[in-house]
Amino acid sequence: MLQPLLASGSSLAYHAQQHLLVRLCGLTQRTARRVLLRERESFSRGELDALQQRWHALLQRDLDNVAAGVYPRGLLFGLPWQRYARALPDLVRDVPAMVQRRKRGGWRELPDDVAVKQYPPYYRRTFHWQTDGYLSRRSAELYDVSVEFLFGGTADVMRRQALVPLAALRRRLGRPLRVLDVGCGTGRTLAQLCRAMPDAELLGLDLSRFYLELAEQEVERAGGRLQSIVGNGEAIALPDASVDAVVSVFLFHELPRNARRNVFREFARVLRPHGATVIVDSVQRSDSAEIAYFVDRFSREMHEPFYREYLGDDLAAGLTSQGLRVTDVSPAYLAKVVTAVPAAAGA
Ligand SMILES: C[S@@+](CC[C@H](N)C(=O)[O-])C[C@H]1O[C@@H](n2cnc3c(N)ncnc32)[C@H](O)[C@@H]1O
Repeated sequence: MLQPLLASGSSLAYHAQQHLLVRLCGLTQRTARRVLLRERESFSRGELDALQQRWHALLQRDLDNVAAGVYPRGLLFGLPWQRYARALPDLVRDVPAMVQRRKRGGWRELPDDVAVKQYPPYYRRTFHWQTDGYLSRRSAELYDVSVEFLFGGTADVMRRQALVPLAALRRRLGRPLRVLDVGCGTGRTLAQLCRAMPDAELLGLDLSRFYLELAEQEVERAGGRLQSIVGNGEAIALPDASVDAVVSVFLFHELPRNARRNVFREFARVLRPHGATVIVDSVQRSDSAEIAYFVDRFSREMHEPFYREYLGDDLAAGLTSQGLRVTDVSPAYLAKVVTAVPAAAGA
């Protein structure tokens, strides 16, 4: 009796939270666009309907996953409101600088005290026009709240869809998983994984030491410990067949095609024979032309120079070309979840 009541109560509260977030973020973004850029949104009814349908489906999927015991109910309400509220004034203060940077095309404006040559050329830029690119503590501190704002409160929801295939893998192997998150950023996926699967061994790799420092703290707050690796996903500093799962969230749309291929190859190399790789990233044109239209605008406006090439490619085909077999592709609002296993693992 109590269980269904609790479930329907939290479903209502969850929907209220998500409606509030999407309305608030949408309104602020439309106003900012009008005032700062003198532009209006111009989406067709069909595009908006497709977007809304996928949003509803994501929320339902999130609730279903909780009901199925994939992850705890607490994740539905896991946004660190106080931390984001503290970061918000800094983000707002940064917006005029971002707009000016966009206007003058200042994508090379990286911090002077960082030896940028150590990074691959595609990385040496102010992605999203964000101040310092990925190369400062301040950028890392503003990142989570900016992404959550941009996605209207669904960034963490999309991220945690990676936990579904990971839970299935955990059940299949019948033992704790050793999981590597490549391009883990500030650790939002790893922390959610830690809460859902406290016995997992967590490794996080990223080119930015500033983001990794925050990822360590995020996982610690979730009650775990992160083994962090500062490095390039194209050459992962781990032995062959050394992890059960490789996860990656919102990384591939930022990589040129050849780098994507190298990272896929590394995934196949470090995976154990019975392991799985789980990628959460933007939809591509072949998944949904209507949704691709939205994200295509993002690619043009937010200094994402490799996103357009990514949109026309197919993640599944890229994984297959590097010795992995795709077992599932599921939609997750503006993203999709692609699961693959080593091709040699058989049916
Ligand atoms: C869009 S962010 C996504 C971060 C995080 N996964 C999330 O869910 O928010 C991309 C991240 O990938 C990292 N990155 C980009 N290229 C990389 C590469 N070649 N190797 C490792 N990390 C990379 C960036 O530093 C950044 O933290």
